[in-house]
Amino acid sequence: MPGIPGRRPGLFVIELDGAMIGIIELNRRAPEHRSDVRPDGGEAELGYLLLPETWGCGYAAEACTAALGWFADAVPGRPVVLATQTANDRSMRLAVKLGFTEIRRYEAWGAEQWFGMWSPVTPSG
Ligand SMILES: CC(C)(COP(=O)(O)OP(=O)(O)OC[C@H]1O[C@@H](n2cnc3c(N)ncnc32)[C@H](O)[C@@H]1OP(=O)(O)O)[C@@H](O)C(=O)NCCC(=O)NCCS
Repeated sequence: MPGIPGRRPGLFVIELDGAMIGIIELNRRAPEHRSDVRPDGGEAELGYLLLPETWGCGYAAEACTAALGWFADAVPGRPVVLATQTANDRSMRLAVKLGFTEIRRYEAWGAEQWFGMWSPVTPSG
């Protein structure tokens, strides 16, 4: 997680055959957007953006899974949150596929938003 402005260890480029096809971000959620996931705020928030011509191939799911795995190793036990419009079918499907579960829905920017949380699986035994 970036502790110093300008340092962005949670920013990933998605590369396919040597070309950039998208980005993934794991950012510290701004304090004014505090949720009920962590009372002190500052949750990690996942964001993703791929070139439209690469949608529908599973690249986003593969890359996000890798980024969440990186995060779980870097900051063990920490949940990750995600906000997306419910009308964004692809993003909604991806969030659920990644293992995010709904916390609440709310209205913002003239549309219904979905707010979900992902928790790392802790090995049992
Ligand atoms: C959200 C976004 C990243 C989803 O991209 P995506 O390619 O649909 O997501 P996935 O990587 O999960 O791919 C899933 C699709 O790939 C297909 N697929 C094809 N081959 C596959 C494979 N080998 N493995 C997995 N999935 C595969 C799946 O069947 C699925 O198709 P479907 O959508 O028709 O059901 C993309 O639409 C995007 O960048 N949108 C703009 C940015 C945005 O909206 N961000 C969210 C704001 S927070």
